[in-house]
Amino acid sequence: MIAGYDHFVTLAESLQWDETALDYSADREAWPQLTDAESARVLGLIAGFVIAETAVSGELAAYQAAASDSSMEAAFRAQLRDEARHARFFDLVAAEVAGVPGADPAARRDALRSLVSSDLVDLFEERLPATAGRLAENHGSLSAAVGLYHMVIEGVVLLAGQHAMLEALESLSVKLPGVHKGCELVLRDERWHIGFGSRIVQRADIGPDEADMLLEQGETAAKVWGDLITPAAIETAVRQHRRRLKAAGIKFW
Ligand SMILES: [Fe+2]
Ligand SMILES: [Fe+2]
Repeated sequence: MIAGYDHFVTLAESLQWDETALDYSADREAWPQLTDAESARVLGLIAGFVIAETAVSGELAAYQAAASDSSMEAAFRAQLRDEARHARFFDLVAAEVAGVPGADPAARRDALRSLVSSDLVDLFEERLPATAGRLAENHGSLSAAVGLYHMVIEGVVLLAGQHAMLEALESLSVKLPGVHKGCELVLRDERWHIGFGSRIVQRADIGPDEADMLLEQGETAAKVWGDLITPAAIETAVRQHRRRLKAAGIKFW
């Protein structure tokens, strides 16, 4: 048996990709031909991902520093490399495919913030940094912080967003192949991140209060996308969240 979290590091290594190596030329040509409703939906989802991936890649270092052993630390480091790439990918799509104005990623992010709900911005730009901050100051538990990041944010919010994005891309009147490919690769990375977080939660001693909180946070967080995600997709995300928590050995009373 491979000790600790080493197999996540090996897996991450085998899944590396480069956002600048994807071909976006067909996407650039297709974007102006999308209907207003199509481009509004895709851009809303892109806005959410730009904000989310920038925030998670900025906060993950606190998790890495709180790792309980070198194998967990290496897996957080591999994850951080992925999240930084995801942030670059969505910013690149915003700038070069959707033509979002702004001289740098921060300026483009400012331009995109109004396209998503304040709950989404709050989750990523206030609540997640606060949790990471507690972890960095040694006041928070790693399992609770991983519960918010890997189980709630990645397992519910980002996964639901990615499924909605792929569905939206597949239904477009003109296709965006570069964006589609990149989103599939992001989803592939997120799957191991969630698996890694589930393992940490599984090994932690999660009590009934923390279990209830994780479930409740998932139910609330699933709604931050607003109209960008259908109620049915939210329901599916919450159901999968509950199943994933159960699989990680969490009991609900
Ligand atoms: Fe990510
Ligand atoms: Fe992730």
